[in-house]
Amino acid sequence: MTQKITAAITAVGGFLPEDKLTNADLEKIVDTNDEWIRSRTGIEERRILKGQKGTSDLITPAVEQLLKKRGISPLEIDAMVIGTVTPDMMFPSTANLVCHKAGLKNAFGFDLLAACSGFLYALTTGASLIESGRYKKVIVAGGDKMSSIVDYSDRTTCIIFGDGAAAVLLEANTEGYGVQDSILRSDGSGCAHLHMKAGGSLRPASAETVANKEHFIYQEGQPVFKAAVKGMADVSAELLERNNLTGDDIAWLVPHQANKRIIDATADRIGLSHDKVMLNIQRYGNTTAGTIPLCLYDWESKLKKGDNIVLAAFGGGFTWGATLVKWGY
Ligand code: UT7
Repeated sequence: MTQKITAAITAVGGFLPEDKLTNADLEKIVDTNDEWIRSRTGIEERRILKGQKGTSDLITPAVEQLLKKRGISPLEIDAMVIGTVTPDMMFPSTANLVCHKAGLKNAFGFDLLAACSGFLYALTTGASLIESGRYKKVIVAGGDKMSSIVDYSDRTTCIIFGDGAAAVLLEANTEGYGVQDSILRSDGSGCAHLHMKAGGSLRPASAETVANKEHFIYQEGQPVFKAAVKGMADVSAELLERNNLTGDDIAWLVPHQANKRIIDATADRIGLSHDKVMLNIQRYGNTTAGTIPLCLYDWESKLKKGDNIVLAAFGGGFTWGATLVKWGY
């Protein structure tokens, strides 16, 4: 009998640019204050990638670190999937550029656009490549240079976002570790509340789109907030239920870091005490596709082999989902 192949996470790498943008810095740019930002979002500071650098410059060092930690050659990697909404360019894909920069000469790569759920979509996709039996080692990354699409005169969005990236290595496993189950959802009607108006084929860049600030994030905070609280909590509860698990069986919730209040609501819904929730929003803000792998990166030393962890996200699209992972090392 052939053994079932699962996709185990076997290493994590991360990268955060050095420059910080604190709430005090933002007070000097827009009409806001530290108390409002902390109480409404939980954020204290974010990292900003300065200079003429793109998302590939965030992901490449994360990938290089991951390979070093695992002690393998870049030539062993079969494929690379990147979740991002801020690719270096419209084309080629950022994955293509990262494969080149990190020397993944035997890999093919592609980007996947699912906004804040980008890492979960990419993880499920990368895991499927492994589960098919065709690929043995796949890198899945999530990262965004959100500062490249943030309007720093809009106080409702500029306080939220930051830059950062992290990556995981998936390896074929026959002991049952790794990605166990995943529920992914999307609803295009949510586009109205969170999108970037121009720069795509519908509204290509022009002097007018630039003058109208259409190359920045457009977000209606309240409807997104309401949909996020419901979406992230519902899908996490559904995932536990269909795997016959309760909050007691879960070692960690690894939530997308958009707003601490959304995270708390999800933890409460699945009956998980808040000390089992990974939270680094206070230090990095919302790095979009970067948040979930950056949590794994920060908590790597606390994770134990066999831990059940639930990864959950909600974001632009709308897209949302939850993934159950059995930690493999
Ligand atoms: O990751 C992608 C998915 N995105 C999300 O999940 C984000 C979801 N939404 C949110 O996290 C929240 O809606 C925000 C953090 C964006 C906004 O928080 P809120 O509690 O929903 O605030 P609000 O939009 O209802 O605004 C409340 C008040 C308004 O003033 P008035 O009309 O009551 O006088 C805003 O103008 O707060 C004002 N406000 C601010 N005040 C100080 C909005 N932004 C700021 C600010 N500083 N930065």
